[in-house]
Amino acid sequence: MTKRLPNLQVALDHSNLKGAITAAVSVGNEVDVIEAGTVCLLQVGSELVEVLRSLFPDKIIVADTKCADAGGTVAKNNAVRGANWMTCICSATIPTMKAARKAIEDVNPDKGEIQVELYGDWTYDQAQQWLDAGISQAIYHQSRDALLAGETWGEKDLNKVKKLIEMGFRVSVTGGLNVDTLKLFKGVDVFTFIAGRGITEAENPAGAARAFKDEIKRIWG
Ligand code: 5RP
Ligand code: MG
Repeated sequence: MTKRLPNLQVALDHSNLKGAITAAVSVGNEVDVIEAGTVCLLQVGSELVEVLRSLFPDKIIVADTKCADAGGTVAKNNAVRGANWMTCICSATIPTMKAARKAIEDVNPDKGEIQVELYGDWTYDQAQQWLDAGISQAIYHQSRDALLAGETWGEKDLNKVKKLIEMGFRVSVTGGLNVDTLKLFKGVDVFTFIAGRGITEAENPAGAARAFKDEIKRIWG
């Protein structure tokens, strides 16, 4: 049986469409998943998703909307432009998540999925409700602002990631990741590592993406 390696996802959090597309062109073929990042979506809207889909017809594309409400409408708007997956913030209600799931699956029956983005306070009881609502992807996130305020990745994060995996989630991990962070997760069945600035702000973004991939292979291969 071949081992499953964690995926690599690039997050395009540029403040303009040109920057995001330039980065996508240079690293898109090096990664498994391409993310239309929240920062860029807030600037330019889901046109970003449409351009990414036209450039990468066969890749998984995520709209990182961090949707809090109007889940059905937001998911439909992004799905028709080409998003396979879309994120909902963990504080969204279950009806919002269910509506988002229905809309993304209606447009994309084979690959449409909602991911719950974990920030701040959430409980394992809520996590069970997300599973019960048919949502089995979670993104464990260290917020950019928490990292800037001095937070670091550590044992407490690992324990939460492991527990979510035990519950049945496919768990992605993100927030200020660099190649050196990955070894902290050795032995943990992380679904996807999501890196933004660690790839897009590198001197050689494609080389940085390959370095992430090589480290994933070294640790999980
Ligand atoms: C921020 C995000 C980012 O896309 C995610 O944190 C990855 O970016 P970086 O590696 O630059 O932190 O969703 O809310
Ligand atoms: Mg993001």
